[in-house]
Amino acid sequence: MTSATPVRIIDGKAAAVRVRAEVKAAVALHTAAGRRAPGLATVLVGDDPASHVYVKNKRKQAAECGLISAHHELPSTTTTAELLAVVSKLNDDGAVDGILVQLPLPKHIDEHAVLVALDPQKDVDGFHPDNVARLTMGLAGGFVPCTPLGCLRLLDDEKELQLRGARAVVVGRSNIVGKPMASLLLGRDCTVTIAHSKTKDLAGVCRQADVLVAAIGRAQMIGAGFIKPGAIVIDVGINRLPEIDGRPGKLVGDVDWAAIEGVAAAATPVPGGVGPMTIAMLLQNTLTSYVRRLGIEH
Ligand SMILES: NC(=O)c1ccc[n+]([C@@H]2O[C@H](COP(=O)([O-])OP(=O)(O)OC[C@H]3O[C@@H](n4cnc5c(N)ncnc54)[C@H](OP(=O)(O)O)[C@@H]3O)[C@@H](O)[C@H]2O)c1
Repeated sequence: MTSATPVRIIDGKAAAVRVRAEVKAAVALHTAAGRRAPGLATVLVGDDPASHVYVKNKRKQAAECGLISAHHELPSTTTTAELLAVVSKLNDDGAVDGILVQLPLPKHIDEHAVLVALDPQKDVDGFHPDNVARLTMGLAGGFVPCTPLGCLRLLDDEKELQLRGARAVVVGRSNIVGKPMASLLLGRDCTVTIAHSKTKDLAGVCRQADVLVAAIGRAQMIGAGFIKPGAIVIDVGINRLPEIDGRPGKLVGDVDWAAIEGVAAAATPVPGGVGPMTIAMLLQNTLTSYVRRLGIEH
């Protein structure tokens, strides 16, 4: 018996290095021309450990690319009004091109009020309703949420893949991943299905997909029976397996990598797939905001 053909790894880490190098080179050109560097303001409320790690990484990578990152750390007792005042100041600050309010916010804060208060032209996370509408309507000039934008970039890098006319299935309908991902794929002329927890025969729906995007948050639930032979699989999920003998469990995606061997053509690993692309696209969005606001070429 011959062993199954291994799934080709779509290397998000390497792709993110390329995106960051592009951003860094562009920033260097602008500053060499005597312009200020692009500015990214990060706002972190409370003491969620994961959020602290995410923001630290975002700021570190921003600095490595030559962006100026201004950080605002607020206590968990911050009120909605106090946070809105910070957002308002950043909206008015000419040196700030991108504003990132790290989610989730503490429960007592009105998250929607905060997202709506952001200047849509500085909303580099792409969560403001104006930017959501632009993406849905296919209008240029907005911002697309970083995770789905990173997934699209990985798909664009797949030279053999013809998105036009392809069948795409997105599992997950969140506002930050599933829905914008579906809009992006529709914009590329895919025939798109959005599946979710109430979808009947999920495996059968997924088996139709030339491109399958899993954004569920359920460890390794996408197995061989979900995959059309030769499909490209993008695994957005980040799940921690239960600890063993007091040691923290492994980080895994929504896709059972071992099960899809010999069926899928290529897939993103977890870690090292979509994750690194998310921050890279945040930096790219900030650069986009900068060039738009200064009215200059990329
Ligand atoms: N790599 C990155 O940078 C990055 C960024 C963001 C998120 N993530 C990860 O991606 C995953 C999804 O994130 P999210 O924010 O979109 O999560 P979310 O808001 O919890 O949405 C999960 C979606 O999955 C669907 N779902 C849940 N169980 C299902 C099942 N058994 N069958 C089919 N669909 C099911 C839900 O359906 P209903 O709507 O019907 O409940 C929902 O639409 C998480 O693991 C998260 O950590 C990674």
